[in-house]
Amino acid sequence: MKAIRIHEFGGPDVLELEDIEIPKPAGDEVLVKVYASSVNPVDQKIFAGEAQQKFPTKFPLTMGWDVSGVIESVGEKVHNMRIGDEVYGRPFPTTNGAFAEYAVVKANQLSPKPKSIDHLNAAAIPLAGLTAWQGLFQYGKLQKGQKVLIHAASGGVGSFAVQFAKWKGAYVIGTGAAENLSFIKQLGADEAIDYKNERFEEKVSEVDLVFDLIGKDTQQRSIQVIKEGGRLITTVQPEFQEEAKEKHIHLEGFTAQSYPADLKQIADLVDEGKVSPVVSAVMSLEDAKKAEILSSNKSSRGKIVIKVV
Ligand SMILES: NC(=O)c1ccc[n+]([C@@H]2O[C@H](COP(=O)([O-])OP(=O)(O)OC[C@H]3O[C@@H](n4cnc5c(N)ncnc54)[C@H](OP(=O)(O)O)[C@@H]3O)[C@@H](O)[C@H]2O)c1
Repeated sequence: MKAIRIHEFGGPDVLELEDIEIPKPAGDEVLVKVYASSVNPVDQKIFAGEAQQKFPTKFPLTMGWDVSGVIESVGEKVHNMRIGDEVYGRPFPTTNGAFAEYAVVKANQLSPKPKSIDHLNAAAIPLAGLTAWQGLFQYGKLQKGQKVLIHAASGGVGSFAVQFAKWKGAYVIGTGAAENLSFIKQLGADEAIDYKNERFEEKVSEVDLVFDLIGKDTQQRSIQVIKEGGRLITTVQPEFQEEAKEKHIHLEGFTAQSYPADLKQIADLVDEGKVSPVVSAVMSLEDAKKAEILSSNKSSRGKIVIKVV
């Protein structure tokens, strides 16, 4: 089968299209015929060797930590999935991924894909959608009627977070580049702030939750806009614990997990027409390297999808 693998760390040139054997699932795994995957910033951190502590890499490694496809075979301990089931999920980034014609995935990291959309759109959901869901609700404890500030609201995670927060009944403020502000509002935000030309801390105050996808200075300045007892949840490094503590704010980082229950809730929202993945580009498996370069240079919206079938 065709697969995009790395044998060493470096720039996008370390991604190689290779012909390798179709992997075999262990007892608790399934073999998925991959229809589509998608690009995430973690890909670049992994192939550059910058994510070694969090996601230790064994070479050769097949890239791609989103999958939507059809089950081709199941391990002997898997009883809740059958050959032919249409599934989606996020293989864990220390294991081989889905920039390939087939991927072996733990059965407990998959769920039935949304029925109302095709594999190309479904593949845009798992990693980014799970991150938004768990960041807002599991860690952020966001409730109806609360105010949330979402940084990087136009990107992969942010475009889901705005929609989920709005669905929950929160008052939603998103930050993004000037050219993305109307898009952020179309997603459901009540306000959108141009982070390049405006200081969000001068426009926002007393929020219950900041969902920080940027870190560093953005994370530090976010502390000022959160009400006492509020939360600052980050997908990157939580760096300002002392300052947050002084202001009685809970600062926490997290790594999203591919929980089938969360994937199912997201699929239900998609099938009910309440949430839609945003796909900015579809590229072939052969063009995975170009897709990673495009993703790293981008000021784009939503997700870049890799079409395999
Ligand atoms: N911990 C986890 O489990 C987890 C999971 C997923 C992602 N992540 C991390 O979360 C981050 C976001 O991921 P993603 O998939 O959403 O990335 P993405 O699709 O590349 O989106 C990032 C967006 O950030 C915006 N941006 C850049 N600088 C900004 C700033 N100072 N203020 C506000 N927005 C800014 C850009 O939007 P404009 O075009 O509008 O400038 C860009 O589109 C990445 O660092 C990723 O590695 C972590």
